[in-house]
Amino acid sequence: GNRMFGRVKPLDAILATAEKKSLHRSLGAFQLTMLGVGAIIGTGIFVLTAEAAQKAGPGMMISFIIAGFVCAVAALCYAEMASMVPVSGSAYTYSYAVMGELLAWMVGWALVLEYAVAAGAVAVGWSGYFVGLLREYLGISLPTSLVNADALIAQIKLVFGAANSEAIQTAIATGGYINLPAFIISLLVTWLLVIGTKESAYVNAVLVMVKITALTLFVVLAVPVMNSANFEPFAPLGFGGISAAAASIFFAYVGFDAVSTAAEETKNPQRNMPIGLIGSLAICTVFYLLVAAGVIGSVGAQPLFDAAGNGLAPGSTELAAACATTGGQAVVCSKEALAWTLREIGWQQIGNLVGLAAGLALPSVILMMMFGQTRIFFVMSRDGLLPERLSRIHPKYHTPHVVTIITGIVVAIFAALFPVGALADISNSGTLFAFAMVAIAVLILRKRDPGRARPFRTPAVMVVAPLAAVGCVYLFW
Ligand code: ALA
Repeated sequence: GNRMFGRVKPLDAILATAEKKSLHRSLGAFQLTMLGVGAIIGTGIFVLTAEAAQKAGPGMMISFIIAGFVCAVAALCYAEMASMVPVSGSAYTYSYAVMGELLAWMVGWALVLEYAVAAGAVAVGWSGYFVGLLREYLGISLPTSLVNADALIAQIKLVFGAANSEAIQTAIATGGYINLPAFIISLLVTWLLVIGTKESAYVNAVLVMVKITALTLFVVLAVPVMNSANFEPFAPLGFGGISAAAASIFFAYVGFDAVSTAAEETKNPQRNMPIGLIGSLAICTVFYLLVAAGVIGSVGAQPLFDAAGNGLAPGSTELAAACATTGGQAVVCSKEALAWTLREIGWQQIGNLVGLAAGLALPSVILMMMFGQTRIFFVMSRDGLLPERLSRIHPKYHTPHVVTIITGIVVAIFAALFPVGALADISNSGTLFAFAMVAIAVLILRKRDPGRARPFRTPAVMVVAPLAAVGCVYLFW
């Protein structure tokens, strides 16, 4: 049965290797929770809130709840695995132990996809805020040709036979050719990783405080001016729109699994892992719901429609064209949704400060995503599932510079060309696959190895694990 997919790496062997080469255990429950919040809060809430609104309207509140719920049940499964197998590699390692080489290889690649494309998405999100900061603080307007690749993509669409519609013409006339800030920040972060920058717990703690302060300010200013009329119509695009927005906004929760990758560096992981995973997720969920309510209630969150009454797709040439013709006076047109909302309700300077917070903090999310990616790559090549020369170490900086540079260039190209929502959706599909596999692994292991010590047991596992797997399939679909 379990040998069907080739080699399985026995759990005890994994644990023994980790024991031998174990890292210094220094992280407690609080630091782990901070690590989680640091990796979670990013482009999702700061930028994709606008995309969720375009897909679901005020119903995006439900989308945030659905995505948060799927992450919560997945996190409960992660917590059991991470406390039982507290070694690096997270979902990849668990799959290797439980389901064998082939599935582990697929999960490994899904994680690589997740982290690399997520880094690109966060870079594009950062770019939107950076452009706003240049405009507000320095009065510099970057030329449109350098802040997105809408015109380039429209021209490529024409070459591949798309109809020469009005929207395509508008995109060519008003769009750009490269997202230069996103391209540059990706290469800068790559360079930091090559010279061996590992985000310190101190820097992370400061940036978490910056993000929490920014979101708190937002909530305190936006929620009190809530106008309940803005919640009507609640679901202009129906439950289909709410589901689509949930699948996108799932990105806002991605990153809590970064906590599990620190298992080897955690004190008393049996107790602290679950606290870190579930604690960070819970904190972010509360903030997200309040922020979403603040956006909807204060400036409204109705989507833009085409002439036939269908919602325009976020990131599409059509939506960009609709925003260009209406002067961008809607949150769904903004590339810096939270800063835009505050400026719109009269808090110009505080809006700029919230933008500054995003501008300072988002690069660390890019760094964490790319760092997570190199770790997965590393464990995979240690297991012989990737060519060994990829994991070559730099003689001076002692970093896996080959894999870091290759992926950094790929990330920079993605970030230069594609809209944030498309990247987030691709990243989400990799994550959902990995989450579903972890949920299944928990169930298999309960059956196959019931006697093993489980310092954290997923509560009601026969309900929670299947819910996690089904929830992931639902969002994937
Ligand atoms: N959850 C992270 C973000 O929103 C990836 O940027």
